[in-house]
Amino acid sequence: MDAAARALELRKYADAAAGCAKCRLSEGRTQVVFGVGDPDSDLMFVGEAPGFHEDKQGYPFVGQAGKLLDRLLEGIGLSRAETYIANVLKCRPPGNRDPGPDEIESCEPHLFRQLELVQPRVVASLGNFATKLLSGKQIGITRVHGQEQQVTIGGRSVLLFPLYHPAAALYTPAMLKVLEIDFARLPALLGTPAEPEAPAPPAIDPALLGQPEPAVQLGLF
Ligand code: URA
Repeated sequence: MDAAARALELRKYADAAAGCAKCRLSEGRTQVVFGVGDPDSDLMFVGEAPGFHEDKQGYPFVGQAGKLLDRLLEGIGLSRAETYIANVLKCRPPGNRDPGPDEIESCEPHLFRQLELVQPRVVASLGNFATKLLSGKQIGITRVHGQEQQVTIGGRSVLLFPLYHPAAALYTPAMLKVLEIDFARLPALLGTPAEPEAPAPPAIDPALLGQPEPAVQLGLF
């Protein structure tokens, strides 16, 4: 399938998934938050689940964690439109609680189909839930962040690159520093040199990022 056909298939799949009622999360959601970005990107981010703002707006990573993700991307000369962004769960868990194992199991076919159709070369898993699901190992993000690993997903080999979840880094400056350092390796992993004029990743002061979102997501690292 060429890129145009995959993009069309992804659109059709997203339309069908908009009515998904495979688990209890369909009862409390405003809408399914499927994914956003370039359907042919070499780089896909996989977060945990939509939060309050994502549920309202219908796009992943549009709250404070998303703003941090945008700034990290800017630091390596990329915009979110050049990547594809999705989550393990497509519907917001009530009160931003952790995803349940049964919810992950119900929802994972959506993510696997996205991976199959976008065909990214590098998948950056953000936080524990995405990393454990995509690595197939119960090893936490603290141990594996910044260490790329070749994994086979849906018969395709991709480079999985686990990163701390931006929502966790928002409140922990030391973690933000590590996230910036790990993030800076993405251009090399994508096989493209960092833009010569691109500045070093900005040192982001968490205090400038605003107040925590209403329900802070816990259990992210
Ligand atoms: N956290 C996530 O994991 N995903 C989002 O879309 C927003 C916050």
